Amino acid sequence: MKRIYFDNAATTPLADEVIETMARAMQVTFGNPSSIYAEGRAARAAIEQARKEVAHHLGASIGEIFFTSGGTESNNMALKCAVRDLGVQRIISSPIEHHCVLHSLDSLERLGQVERVAVRLDAQGHPDRAHLEELLKSSDKKTMVSLMHSNNEVGAMIDLQETGELCKENGALFHSDTVQTIGYYPIDVSKTPISFLSGSAHKFYGPKGVGFIYINSDNIIKPYVDGGAQERNMRGGTENIYGILGLAKALSLAYDNLEERRRKVTDVRNYMKAQLEANFDNLQFNGDPENGHYKLLSVAFPPSDKADLLLLSLDIAGVSVSGGSACSSGADAGSHVIEALKGAPDRKTIRFSFSHNNTREEVDQVVAKLKEILPVGVGA
Ligand SMILES: Cc1ncc(COP(=O)(O)O)c(C=O)c1O
Repeated sequence: MKRIYFDNAATTPLADEVIETMARAMQVTFGNPSSIYAEGRAARAAIEQARKEVAHHLGASIGEIFFTSGGTESNNMALKCAVRDLGVQRIISSPIEHHCVLHSLDSLERLGQVERVAVRLDAQGHPDRAHLEELLKSSDKKTMVSLMHSNNEVGAMIDLQETGELCKENGALFHSDTVQTIGYYPIDVSKTPISFLSGSAHKFYGPKGVGFIYINSDNIIKPYVDGGAQERNMRGGTENIYGILGLAKALSLAYDNLEERRRKVTDVRNYMKAQLEANFDNLQFNGDPENGHYKLLSVAFPPSDKADLLLLSLDIAGVSVSGGSACSSGADAGSHVIEALKGAPDRKTIRFSFSHNNTREEVDQVVAKLKEILPVGVGA
């Protein structure tokens, strides 16, 4: 059986057109973009064209987009530069953010540079709006809110517009980790008040090791990576030109085909949910399966010996998915997200995440495998 890849929130395969764009650039666009002769100028022009495309898809100005090494760097940069350069003294965030946000906050806190405040979440992973407002109003310190647009493990989403407006009304900056939603949802920073957002090419069928940060032009920060004058003096280091061109191509494909891809992904995901419900009892869905990210389904299987080995058994059966359960044993570090949402610790969580390349037939095969793996009477 051909392997089935249902882990598209972890990473996505490269689109053919992206490979072609990158291969072509590797053959012809080898100049150093900082060189002033023809090869350098061609490389510079290609990067600026890529920046223009990214800015266009997000409603940003060209000068507000900076290429980075990916989502991790972009999120580190937003948080640490806001504290270092913009006088942010207090950050309101949540315990279910990606580790690159949580650990950035850990280090800022350890250095005594920021007061860290957690907004209350409901059981599905949504921040409590009233509590956020209360927190925003309860301090005179310069504050930034950092909340991810979609959680990568359970798919719960925030309303970017509403949160941005709330922050604006209360004089706070707003950073959102949009790594899971860029290329999947329309985002228009000309309408949504937002200070920083982050993107990562490998989540939308582009290459790994390249991403970008949007920095609203009201926020003047200094470089995060010191070096040469690349990226308009904001990030030293010779540009990852092949990655940047691949990213721009992947993003254009994602936004040009957004509705069609969304329809396909939603269909496969909803079919998977329906098939699971039809074939298994006593399943729980983490996050917000009705209104969460359409590419993701986080399923908590009832406890059993077989469920404990589910990830491995599925891998052996040719199916790639992610785990992520509450921390129940010393051997398994567990998921900080399921833990924070107080998911049942003895259940086994599997995250299925889909692409427009997946099919209903693949879902049928995976459900059949699950029926073979899980014992009758336990979730069946
Ligand atoms: C929500 C979220 N933020 C940040 C990242 C990190 O992005 P990158 O892999 O580009 O560093 C990921 C990737 O796993 C993610 O899912």
